[in-house]
Amino acid sequence: MSARPSEPAPFVVWFTGLSGAGKSTLALRVEAELRTRGLPVFHLDGDELRQGLNRDLGYDDDARVESIRRIAEVTRILYRAGHVVLVAAISPFAAGRDEARRLIAPGIFVEVFVDAPLAVAEQRDPKGLYQRARAGQIAHFTGIDAPYEAPEHPEVHVDTAHLGPDEAAAAVVAHLVARGLAAARAGLS
Ligand code: ADX
Repeated sequence: MSARPSEPAPFVVWFTGLSGAGKSTLALRVEAELRTRGLPVFHLDGDELRQGLNRDLGYDDDARVESIRRIAEVTRILYRAGHVVLVAAISPFAAGRDEARRLIAPGIFVEVFVDAPLAVAEQRDPKGLYQRARAGQIAHFTGIDAPYEAPEHPEVHVDTAHLGPDEAAAAVVAHLVARGLAAARAGLS
């Protein structure tokens, strides 16, 4: 009788960083990599959730605390259902990210600091939001007139000012492979 392959262990990868740092792009690439390895991946994007679950929330400190609290709760539900959960949200406060980690404990929570200096994110300005924030048309913009607390001990730190999306995704996947969370090569789940 052949042994049934065991279910892959769920885990959470939480991408944090400034708007324009590359969180969503990176999370999408990592999602694709993990899917080709047969993992059951769920992807939550802060920007998208603001169209629904978080549509009643703005961007002042209290609203962001609440936004991350909700995302962390949904993450826990999906994690408990056995999914690998990828979260991409600015999540500017260390306490909120730590609370998300605590909700998953003793499960595996991988914090990925998607690090681009403000000048680089502002230069990219993919949605034109930095320009509007500088012009005073958007208040509480992260990095301009709202805080961002960089992670002090993230499991993975990717410098997207110097790494392209493929290299950054490879760095995240390499971390997951090293921890035995993903197969070394696609197709080997
Ligand atoms: S979080 O701080 O609450 O985690 P979240 O990731 O959900 O933020 O949403 C951030 C996205 O909202 C940005 O990528 C940007 O497109 C948009 N946005 C609109 N207003 C702001 C603002 N004042 N600060 C930051 N992002 C904003």
